[in-house]
Parts: sequence; C-alpha cells; structure tokens
Amino acid sequence: MTGTRAHWGSRLGFILAAAGSAVGLGNIWKFPYITGENGGGWFVLIYLICIALVGLPIMMAEIFIGRTTQLAPVGAFRALSRRGSPWVLTGWLGVVVAFVVLSYYSVVAGWAMHYTWLSITNAFAAHDQAAINELFGNVYVSPTVNLGWHVAFMAITIAIVLGGVQKGLERWVRILMPALFVLMLVMLGRAVTMEGFGRAVEFTFAPNAENLTAAGVLEALGHAFFTLSLGMGAMITYGSYLRRDDDLVATSVTVGVLDTVIALMACLILFPITFTFGMQEERTVGLIFMNMPLAFSQMPGGALWGVLFFALLTFAALTSGISLLEVAASYFIDERGWTRRRAALTCGIAILLLGIPSALSGGTRLFGEQFQSLTSNLGVNDGAGFNWFDFFDYLASNWMLPLGGLFIALFVAWRVGGAAREAGFKTGTRFGGLYWGWIQLLRYVVPIAVILVFLNAIGLLGFLDGT
Ligand code: PHE
Repeated sequence: MTGTRAHWGSRLGFILAAAGSAVGLGNIWKFPYITGENGGGWFVLIYLICIALVGLPIMMAEIFIGRTTQLAPVGAFRALSRRGSPWVLTGWLGVVVAFVVLSYYSVVAGWAMHYTWLSITNAFAAHDQAAINELFGNVYVSPTVNLGWHVAFMAITIAIVLGGVQKGLERWVRILMPALFVLMLVMLGRAVTMEGFGRAVEFTFAPNAENLTAAGVLEALGHAFFTLSLGMGAMITYGSYLRRDDDLVATSVTVGVLDTVIALMACLILFPITFTFGMQEERTVGLIFMNMPLAFSQMPGGALWGVLFFALLTFAALTSGISLLEVAASYFIDERGWTRRRAALTCGIAILLLGIPSALSGGTRLFGEQFQSLTSNLGVNDGAGFNWFDFFDYLASNWMLPLGGLFIALFVAWRVGGAAREAGFKTGTRFGGLYWGWIQLLRYVVPIAVILVFLNAIGLLGFLDGT
C-alpha cells in the first residue's frame, strides 16, 4: 500500500499544506477577538506557552502517527494497535469531527466570501456604523446569503480535494498561502502607518494581567488545539502523505511558528484599525464584519483594502476547509477503497447538508441575542441557549478536539513501542535530542492540560475567579 500512496511533491508542499490547515478563521477571526476580550499582553504570552508545550508535542505526535503508518487516522490507529483495540475510536472521532467542524466553518467562510463581494461592489462606501451593523445583521439572518455562500464554499473545497494530494491540495496551497502572506504583509504595512499602531503593539505585547482570568488561561489552551488543527487527525492525514524520512521536528515547528506569526500579525492589523477609528477591541465578531467594513468605508482607497482583507480571510478559510474535507474523504479512500472522486463528492455533499442548520442558525433568533450568542461562541453559553451553529462550535472546540488530542498524546506516549517510536522520531532530523522532552510533555503536561480544559468547560474551575 505504501508504494502506491500519494505523497507531497516536496517538503515545502507539506509545510504549506499543514500551515494552510492551521492558519484559518481561528487565527484571523477568533484569535484577535479572544486577545481583546482577555486584555492582551499576558494572554498572548500564555497562549505562546500553550502552543509550545501542548500544541507542538501533539502536532509532532499526529505527524508521527501519519508518517509512520502512511494511513489516514482510522487505519493508522488500527495499524499501530492490537486487533479490536479501542484506540481506533480516536480515528473515528476525527472523521466525525471533520464533518462537524467543516459544516459550520463553511458558513463563516461564506460570510468572508460575501464580504469580499460586497467590497468589490463598494457596498460599504458612505455607510455609518449603524448602517454597517445593520448590514451584518441582515447577512446573518438571511437564508439565501448564508446558504448560497455555504454551497459556493463547499463546491470550491470539493473541487480542490477532487484533484488529489499533489494536483489538488498542494497545487492550491502553493498559490493561496503565499498570496495570503503577501496580503497580510501589505495590510500590516498599512496598519503600521496608522496612529493607533503604537497602542495596538502595546496592547498585544505589554504585560497586562488586568483582564486575565483562569477561564481566559484555559481559553488560550483550548484555542491552541483549534488553531493548530489538532485533535481530529488533520495532521495525521497530512503526515501520511509525507515520506518516512521527512523531518518530523523541523516541519512541525515551522508550521507552529507560521501559525503563531499569522495570528499575531492579525492582531497587529486589526487593533491599529480598531484603535485609530476609536472602536472597541472586545467586539471582535464585530471587529471583522462590522468594524473593519466601517474602517474601510472611511479610509482612502478603502474599497480596495476591503477586497484584499476579505479575500485574505477567504483564502485562509479555504486552505483549512480542504484539510477538513481531506480527513473525511481519506477515510473512505483508505478504508473503504472508494475512488477519490466518489469520496470527495459524497463527503462534501454530506457536509454541505449537515451545514444547512448552521447556515440557517442566524434566522432563529432576534438580532441582539444572536450577536451576543455569537460572540460567546467557542466559549461559554450566554444563557440564551445555543443555536445549531453555536452548539457545533462548542462541541467541537471545547470537547472533541481536546479529547482527540488527549487520546493521541496518550497513545503515542504510552502505547506505541518505545524503540520504534524513538527511531521514528529521530529519522531524518537533526533535533533527535528533543525526544525525551517530547515524551515527557505528551505523558504528563498534555493530559493535565486537557483535563483542566474539561473541568473548566463543565464549570468546575469557576472558584478560581471567585465565581
Ligand atoms: N486551524 C483552523 C483555524 O484556525 C481550523 C481547523 C481546525 C482546521 C481543525 C482543521 C482542523 O481556523
């Protein structure tokens, strides 16, 4: 089987694809929002620690599993454990999570596409805040807008996955990722010249623990899973297209660093605009879809900046979307012997249907309440009840991804044979000396961290903040 397996054309191809999976709405849409909410500074530092001590070890574990077995998650766990062993369930969980996450991810990606279109048609010009808020309100509740763009996003995602590893995924990430990076740099160049830039840098990096709570710390940890695409087998799947002697350590670290750099750049693009136009940093669902259009409507050349920004957001979402669909499709290709065409189309259409309730979620409540529930998504319930979108998001980010990450860490640290594991880790890398530390992090630090996330999710850690 290994002999005929598709592989990346180059190591750069893998790095771009894995970074493409990691860099997405989580970096540009969510990270600045939770940074704003948690007061910047310390929160960012804690997030970086979470990435280094929890995220990176799990990423290496996932790529290790994929690269060793040359199989997608379900087959990979089966190959590395005994017959009938329950570890295979971790692979299954990943496939289920791929369906769940992509079904609502596609809806937000659809907003990014819609806003790209609105910028192209100069729809924000001469609008004031109230009009722009109303515009987002209308988008959010409109069945046609949400369904239409959801279908469009899924169609593009399916088309890319249909092309296969080299001609689909790799070819497109080679175009989209550099484009994304250039667009980010251009936007950053603009942000640097704005008067709010200094304040934005200070806000993002200066130590300020004022607004940081224990829940905020755990939010940083939980976000580390989502933003690095961990816990559901995306990195196992992408790792399975690596050659067995590709460098595990250097590639993982590169992907982690790229993801982090883009998240920080997003803060340094969004906050200067927010501060310069006197808007509030906490309102970040609004930051992207309300504040940014307002800023663009007031900036010279704003329509063009708007197109660039929302195109960038769309690209980021697309390279993540294809990794999600690839996890689902590769299961049917590896385990059921389906053709790629059949697998990509069937999974893609199933996800499209599963996403319909999320696409219609906006219409189920009044605007004020929806806005609140949306800003509290990926975190705690706002008390008004979840809609479908929030529910999927909550389930995946707070439970499924950390749970998957925990199992993957435990599996590699305690289950996979020590000698083979050590040899595998050290193959093709100059950083073999990190092996011992990697195992210790997987054995102890990751499990403790994930259990804390769970205790927080069920509200047991509230006493830390005196609530
Ligand atoms: N990492 C992506 C983001 O930050 C989301 C994602 C999660 C993609 C899980 C794949 C798997 O937007």
